[in-house]
This record gives sequence, structure tokens and C-alpha cells, in this order.
Amino acid sequence: MLLPLVAAATLLLAPALAVFSDEAWTVDYHFALLGAPKEETSFFHRPNPSSKASLIYTLSEEHALGAVNPRDGSVVWRQLLSPGRDAHNASFLRAGEGEDVVISGIGSEVAAWSAADGKLVWNLNTEGPLEDVEIVELSDGKETAGAKDAMTLSSGSHPTVQRIDGASGAVKWQYRIDGSDAPYQLSASSTQVFAILLHKTILGYVKLRVVALDPVTGRKTDEYTLSSENELATAENIISVGANSASPIIAWTDAAHTTLKVNVVGTKTISSFNIERHDDSAVERVRLHAPYHVNSLSHFLVHYETATSHWAEVYDIDLKNSKVDKAYSLPRVAGKGAFSTSTSDANVYFTRVTRDELSTVSSASHGVLGRWSLSSFGVASGIGEQVEPLHAVSEVSVKGDAVSAIRTTVLLSTGDWVLLRDGKGVWNRPEMLAGTVAVTFAIPANAAALVQQLEVEAHSNPVAAYIHRVRRHIADLQKLPSLLVSMPQRIVKGFLGTSADDLTGSDTFGFRQIIACATRSGRLVALDAGHPDRTLRNMEVADLKPGQSWRPSLSSSKDGVIQLSSMAGAGVDYNATDGQQLAESLPILPDEPDLATSNTVQYTMRGNSLEATYEYNPSWTFTPMHGERILGLVPRPVNDPVASIGKVLGDRRVLYKYLDSNVALLVTAHDESSKASFYVLNTASGAVIYSNVHAGVDLTAPISSIMSENWFAYSFTNEASDDASKGHQLVIGELFESLIPDDRGAMGAKSNYSSMQTDTEPFTLTQTYQIPEAISKLAVTRTRQGITSRQLLAVLPGSNAIVGIPYGIVDPRRPTNRDPTKDEQAEGLMRYTPVLEFDPKWYLNHQREVVGIKDVVTSPALIESTSLVFAYGLDIFGTRLSPSFSFDILGKDFNKFQMLATVAALAVATFVVAPLVMRKQVDQRWRFL
Ligand SMILES: *[C@@H]1O[C@H](CO)[C@@H](O)[C@H](O)[C@H]1NC(C)=O
Ligand SMILES: *[C@@H]1O[C@H](CO)[C@@H](O)[C@H](O)[C@H]1NC(C)=O
Ligand SMILES: *[C@@H]1O[C@H](CO)[C@@H](O)[C@H](O)[C@H]1NC(C)=O
Repeated sequence: MLLPLVAAATLLLAPALAVFSDEAWTVDYHFALLGAPKEETSFFHRPNPSSKASLIYTLSEEHALGAVNPRDGSVVWRQLLSPGRDAHNASFLRAGEGEDVVISGIGSEVAAWSAADGKLVWNLNTEGPLEDVEIVELSDGKETAGAKDAMTLSSGSHPTVQRIDGASGAVKWQYRIDGSDAPYQLSASSTQVFAILLHKTILGYVKLRVVALDPVTGRKTDEYTLSSENELATAENIISVGANSASPIIAWTDAAHTTLKVNVVGTKTISSFNIERHDDSAVERVRLHAPYHVNSLSHFLVHYETATSHWAEVYDIDLKNSKVDKAYSLPRVAGKGAFSTSTSDANVYFTRVTRDELSTVSSASHGVLGRWSLSSFGVASGIGEQVEPLHAVSEVSVKGDAVSAIRTTVLLSTGDWVLLRDGKGVWNRPEMLAGTVAVTFAIPANAAALVQQLEVEAHSNPVAAYIHRVRRHIADLQKLPSLLVSMPQRIVKGFLGTSADDLTGSDTFGFRQIIACATRSGRLVALDAGHPDRTLRNMEVADLKPGQSWRPSLSSSKDGVIQLSSMAGAGVDYNATDGQQLAESLPILPDEPDLATSNTVQYTMRGNSLEATYEYNPSWTFTPMHGERILGLVPRPVNDPVASIGKVLGDRRVLYKYLDSNVALLVTAHDESSKASFYVLNTASGAVIYSNVHAGVDLTAPISSIMSENWFAYSFTNEASDDASKGHQLVIGELFESLIPDDRGAMGAKSNYSSMQTDTEPFTLTQTYQIPEAISKLAVTRTRQGITSRQLLAVLPGSNAIVGIPYGIVDPRRPTNRDPTKDEQAEGLMRYTPVLEFDPKWYLNHQREVVGIKDVVTSPALIESTSLVFAYGLDIFGTRLSPSFSFDILGKDFNKFQMLATVAALAVATFVVAPLVMRKQVDQRWRFL
């Protein structure tokens, strides 16, 4: 009898334990991104010689270095190198065969990283910017076992070649190159090291100067200039210098791409080949793919590309007489293609990825060793857009005459990085999102109508709102038949507790908004906030040429339309729901970068002064003091609902907030005196309503600021001085009409109030906190009606985290030097302490590292308690926050099954017990009779 009871109890207990389980990893999402991998800095490599499985290493356009597990696409480790650099800066990543380190080069820094876990082994700065980094496959007999040396070529005032000890990072020798020629690249053959320099002739052409060095001593053994007969107009026509190989080559074409010239470095013979034309379109790009190992066969592949098609030719080099011969051709195929080179012992394999096929050939013969058809890459793209492969790297294993296994990662024109195993898609990393520069939340069409209805109800009197609501529900009845049809499904889903995540159903809570991201590469990517792992759309919206950039800005309207505008182009509207382009709106072409827009005011920087424009009419100008520069301006958000105009005190009296939609916080810096100034401006009149200056500010550290409701916050870093150490500060200020409760100060007397009058200055309360680390960006949660208390969101670049500080904790009304009174306690105010430690519960990211976050955007959900949060930069992180807890929704911890089970159990109990009780009662009555 007891046993089934215990069993039943355990059954009911198991779900009960889940009540307190964290909602992390269910309501939030995180993409640990790297950015678009570069072709020349991506490869498969074994993290150490004993491991069987290789990882994919890459140094991306965002300068993130990392290792990705080819099995599932997860990041094994990553390091963000020099976050300040632009994508066009040269960067290098090399790994020697059988090495357990990878060596990166960027700017003037060379560094070796443990391939297994990404720990820094050594780093070294060269005198000038790096032009090339290579691994020396030739031993000088002095290496520590297992660590191959690295070689660098740097430019600057003293172009230098250095050999660096692979184990310690010590410089073994260095060779200074004389003359004013520009260093270009390093190559190594099996006996020599070559530095290749570009020599400008009087006529403006380029000649190649080659300096040969002894790899052991670093002494010059030879030097010569290749006569390229005035055909090399610019360095851009050089297509490759093979790095490590038995016979390194250098190849170039003429400006019109009609002939290909190849020279085996170390010899003076130049082989010349005509570039065939397959149709009317001209060859636009020539690329060269060659193995990177000294002991590989000296074969290489030349890849020709026109606007509409591509093809390739394979060449081999006769090592005895350094003669280059064409071996065979790979046929022309429409669209773009990607070629990758893999080696296995001495054998070289070329893998080709086209729009619809993957194939592998050996460098020795044109027989296809493996062929797989690709139906599509399975990624979201624009309407009618053709997805093209841009570049690829492969790992091939060949048994006999056929490929037994092949893994290929391909960067697609959509910015997705995919892995194909034997031609089948295994994973997809949305690397285009690492270059997100502007974001907006938009409401999908099905929710937009409801939002509008709710707004009408919120802004009318209670009776009208009630009538409106009844009408809305009557209108909803029309949907009843379709609702009834889907009822059984909904009940099952509701029973399992999955209804909030239903992909097709309605979204009653407003969690499934569309997040539109504009990327640096000119694309607009739409994500579903409820299902962020599925990209809804990814379309090209700006046609950018290499080296071009744009500065997009995004906004959305209540009817589900996304407005995209950029400094360089017209504003375009898109339907957030289906991605269709709507009519083009007015072109927005400001001549200078504007800082921000709020309500109808647009702020523009002119020189070093700030100009505010009202509907295209200049209204006022703010010129900072001499020597000051404007760092930033944050206006109060356009849509910033406030539920109450006052703060109710513990004794039921009211402090009136200074609420003006035309306020903005301006930050300026004075470099000479290391001062930072913060001004709260009335943006209608240009009047300064609050200002503060901080001295001894480290102006190289981030300064962040935010303005919302009737308060502002900013943070900065103090420079270390004689009497204080370096510290980070957070300042919160709140503006009130008057500091006397139940008094509206000067404004109370006026029934009419205008922003243009400046005699009504607010009273400001501020408090300063010492915080443990710098904040690079501040944001604030937003809810539909502003009733829910706020959280201040702070990005902490030092610990790769985002914290949500409850506003109550930093309320400037916290009493100083005394304990709070009973009334203050009732308000939740604590005694002021100058040090603010970040509570571990405030970390939105939990134990994940969110790297490179540049901005955080928030949006209200349909229910009042919840704010949606989306952070971007390098990583993407999103979550839902309920700063005052979920008072209007049953949380995930609410166990429907348990509740229904309890109800059922009670019903059964009632049925069973009721007759018994009845009988007992009847019996009792009879007994007393
Ligand atoms: C490389 O980055 C630096 C900033 O670190 C920048 O000044 C320079 O112009 C960049 N060089 C190129 C070629 O983009
Ligand atoms: C956007 O597209 C959806 C679905 O196609 C449609 O229902 C809605 O009316 C469109 N919105 C606008 C503003 O065109
Ligand atoms: C407010 O000012 C406007 C214009 O100055 C005036 O027309 C209006 O009567 C005033 N209202 C009250 C209540 O004083």
C-alpha cells in the first residue's frame, strides 16, 4: 500500500524540483561569432600532433582569432585582436605542419597561441607594420623540439626581415633591407628565404626586387630585380607569391588580364601564358591556389573569374629547370566558384565548390576523385538572390582513386559560413551578424494590428476604452471557427507548456518581434526574437565595392515597416513581415554625420559645435568651450512612456518628476586638462539645465551615458593620481520639479507650460558610485507603459559581460550618512554606500562570455512586465527581462501538468470521499437522535 504512494510522491516531486531552475538558456540566446573568415587566414589544422581530429582556425575580418570545432560549428576558443582596427588591415595566421601553436600577425604584433586552448605562448612587436609572417619549415638545428621558427617582414622606416624562435619568441637574427622599396612578401624554398619588394620605376611601373637570404645566418646571398617589362602597373596585379613550397612562385597579370606571367622565385625566367577568353565578358579577377608545404608536389591552380562564370587551370613546375607547364583545365561553370587546396603527404588535391556541385581532383590528373551535388546551401537570402560560394577550405582523405571523406567550409555571399561533409550541410554560422552596425525591433504584421488597438485603449477614457475593448472582442469572434479547428493542437501544446514558443501561432505576449540588423557588408538580416537561431531573411540592400563602407540607421513604425537610411543613399522602407521593399521614401542626405535624432529634432555636428534642427530649420547651436570636443549626445528616447508624473513617498506624499521630452545629455572632453563635462540640455531652447565637470578623467577609456524618463546616468574612468588610484565611476542624476513633496515648484503656479521658457529649472539629485570595472555602453529596459521599474543595462568590456542594475539600487535618493527612515524603508531605499559591487544575479549573460558588444537595444513586449533586449557588436546576445518580475504572465516555472494533475487528483478524491462523508454525516445525525 505504501509503495505506490511513495512512487506517486516521487513522480509529483520530480517536476516540483524544476520550479526554481534558472530560465537561462531558454529565454536568452547567444551567438559566439568570429566575423567573416578571410580566405588566406583560414585552415584545418590538428591542435597537436597526437590528436586525430582537426579544428578549423581562422583570423576573421573583425580580427577575431579562433578555433571552431568542425563537428558542430562551436567555438573552441577565441581571442579578439586589436578591436580598433578596420577590416582592410592586413592580418596573417600560420600554422606549421605538426605544430601545436598557431602564429598570428596584425599591425606590428606577432603572437603565438596554443592551438588547443588559445592561450598566449609569446608575443613580440616589430618596429614597423607587418607585411608578412611565415613559418620556416627549414631547421637551423637550433630549434626547441617541436617548435618551428617564424619569419616576419615589416615595413616602416627600416624594412626588416626577422627570424623568431618558435618556442620563446626571441629574435634569432634580423636583416635590414636598404633602399626605399616597399616590402611585399616573404617566400621560402627548401634552401633559401626570399624577401620580395616592390620597386617603383620612373615611369610609375612596378618592378619586383628579390633579396635572397641564408635562413640560418640571415646573411644576404643574392639580390636581383625581375624585368617585368613595364607591364606591372600596380601591385594589385600581382596575384600571388607562393609562400613555403619546394619552388615558390610569383605570378602577375597585365591590367586587362590577357596574359599570366609566372616566375619561380630564385630564378630569372618568366613563363608567359595567354588567358583564354571563353565569352564576351572580360576576366575580372585571377586568383592562385598553391600548397603551403615544402614537401608537397609543386603544382598550382589558377582561378579565373568573369562577371557571369569561372574556370580554372592547373600548372606544374619542373623543379630541374624551373619551367612552368600547363597540366589541365577545369571547365567553365556559370556563377562564382571557390577552390581550396589540400595536401596529404606529397599529394595535392583541389576541391571546387560551385552553386550546385562539390568536386575534388588530384593536382596530378584531371580525373574527378569525388563529386557531390549541392541542392542549395540552406541559408536565408533575399528574394530572387543567387547564393554564391566566395571561398572555401577543405580537408580531404583519399583512399585509392576516390575521396573517402571530405569536409569543406564555405563562406557564402550571404555572409553565412557553412560546413559541408561529403556534400551535405552540417552547420551554418551566421557570421554576417558579427558586422552588425544598426538594429531595430519591428512588430510583425499579425501583431501590429493588436498593438494599434491596445494603444487606442491606452489613450482614451475608461468608458471609451471599455467599449472599444468589447468591440475588439466581438470582432475577434469572427476568428472563432479557425480557432476551434486549431483547438486540439493548441490544447496539446498548452498542456506541454510550449505554446509561447509556437512558431506559427499567434504571439499574445509580443515576444516574437522581428529584429532587423544592418551589417557592415551592406545586408539587412531579419531574426525572430522568439526563434533567433532561424534567420528569417538576409538580403543585400547596399551594393558596396571592396573598401567601401556605409553608415546605415534603422527604425521601425507601428505598422510593421522597417525604415532603412544611410549617409550615402536614399531611405528605403521594407515590410518587416515578408521583407518586400515598399515605396522609396524621401532621400536623406545630410552633408555631415549627424549625431542623433529625437522627436522632431535632428542634431548635427558642424565643426566642433552642435546644431539642432527642427524640421529642417536650424534652431540653436551649442558651442563647447575652447579646447573641448563633443564626445556624444544621448537624447531621451522618442518612445519613452512614463506611467506616473510623480514618485510616491513612503508617507503617501508625492515628489514631482521633471518630465520633458526635449532633454538630452551631452558629453564633452577637454584633452589638455583631462576633464570631461556632462550637460543636460533642453533641446527645444538649447538651455543647459544641469552641468557637471569631472577632472582627472582618463579620456582614452570609454565614457558611456544614457538619458531616460527624468534621470540620466554616465560612467567614466578616473586617472591614477598621487592620492587616488585608477577607478571607475557611475553617476546617476534625477531631475525633479521641486524637492519638497506635494509641491510643483515654479511650474505648479502655471497651468500652461512651454519648453521654450527657461525659468523653470529642475532640481537635480546626483549620487556617484565606485564601480569595479569600466562600462562601455549604457542602455535601459523599456516596457509598454513604463509602469514596471527600470533596469540600467551596462556593457562590461573587461569581463565580456552585460549587467542589469535595478534602478532602485542606484536611486539618487538613497540617504547619505544616516540610516533610512521608516518611510524611506517603505520605498525600498537603502543607506548610500559609495562602492557598488555588481551582484552575480545581475549578470544577464550568466557564465557565457559576450565579446565585443558595441550597443544594446531594448523594446517593450506586448505585456507590461517584459522588455526585450538585444546586444550586438561581435557577438549577438538577446534575452527578455522582467525587472519587476513577471506579474502578468505565468513563468516557465509554472507547472501546468502539476496543476492539472492536482485538480484531477482532488476531483477523484472528492468523488471517492464524498459518499463516505455523506454516510458519516447521516450516521452521526442518527446517533444523536
Ligand atoms: C590599419 O589600421 C590602422 C589603425 O590601427 C589605420 O590607421 C591604417 O590606416 C590601417 N591600414 C590599412 C591599410 O587599412
Ligand atoms: C506586410 O506583409 C504582410 C504579409 O505579407 C501583410 O499582411 C502586411 O499588410 C504588409 N504590411 C504592409 C505595411 O505592407
Ligand atoms: C495656454 O496658453 C495658450 C497660448 O498662450 C492660451 O491660448 C491658453 O488659453 C492658455 N491656457 C490656459 C489654461 O491658461
